[in-house]
Amino acid sequence: MNLFEKAEEVREQLRKDLAQIEIQPEAIEAFRLKYLGKKGEIQSLFSLFGTLDPEKKRLFGKVANEAKLEAEAALNALKQRLAGNQKKEAFFDFTLPGKAPRTGHLHPITQTMNRIIAIFQEMGFGIEFGPEVETDYYNFEALNFPKNHPARDMQDTFFVDDDILLRTHTSPIQVRTMLKKKPPIRILAPGRVYRNEAINPRSYCMFHQIEGLYVDENVTFSELKTTLDVFARRFFGKDVKTRFRPSYFPFTEPSAEVDVSCIICGGRGCRVCKHTGWLEILGCGMVDPNVLSAVGIDPEKYTGYAFGMGPDRIALQKYGINDIRLFFEGDIRFLTQF
Ligand code: PHE
Repeated sequence: MNLFEKAEEVREQLRKDLAQIEIQPEAIEAFRLKYLGKKGEIQSLFSLFGTLDPEKKRLFGKVANEAKLEAEAALNALKQRLAGNQKKEAFFDFTLPGKAPRTGHLHPITQTMNRIIAIFQEMGFGIEFGPEVETDYYNFEALNFPKNHPARDMQDTFFVDDDILLRTHTSPIQVRTMLKKKPPIRILAPGRVYRNEAINPRSYCMFHQIEGLYVDENVTFSELKTTLDVFARRFFGKDVKTRFRPSYFPFTEPSAEVDVSCIICGGRGCRVCKHTGWLEILGCGMVDPNVLSAVGIDPEKYTGYAFGMGPDRIALQKYGINDIRLFFEGDIRFLTQF
């Protein structure tokens, strides 16, 4: 191999190395030593110089010099790339706030239920739960709905079989609690209930209730009224008015439905209250003696009151929403507003 070929080979090797090199200080230093070091490839070309005759010396001098210039240019380019990388890193500001991950929050109905529960807990009510799949006995029979009683039609029931059903209200938890505990009993029972109703903006096949039950000696209807009045003022605001309308439930006697003055229009009449000025929020009454007897509590000694309210309706009214289905469709665009 003559010297000219050798020079060409060095340059080719240099280009290959350049194409593969890692932009790291150690690799670049190794590159410098390999080509431009005292014992490097370029220097070794020059050291062969002396063996040439003057004419070739001149030509080869040019070739070797070009190789040296190329090596120097390559080294400079590598150093610049390294500096560029380091600058970029130095400019990364670790103190900048990151992208916050999206966190969830409680469902608006859960929020509403928690507020309701907190108010009654302050008044001394405990919490009880019951199964959503119930038997006819707890949902109807023990609550004074005899078989074939027309009151069963008030609640369109999803039956699993003749005896098993999806609970239509939280009142079966009254029965379960009274079978388990002795008076005084003062509990709240929140949960989901199911009714075979047409799905539309006003009703859904699943909704929520919060049941209240207080059984002790000398529990009176006026205590029921006071408790619900205090609740309404704590929940809706001190200016809210309440109205008790006579009603009928098989498991309470006497029974009432309770309205509050419309929280949207203050009672003047608007679309939400259908221009009546009132919104119905719950059913209630004194526990029927038949129910106490069915669970082995002496109705001569004890009396009690019960109520059942609809937190979904209350949440609809509170947020001014006109379609209950929005609560149950899980659309994140709706839910993130609460
Ligand atoms: N369970 C009744 C309903 O779902 C509400 C209610 C509960 C009424 C407790 C009186 C006492 O309509």
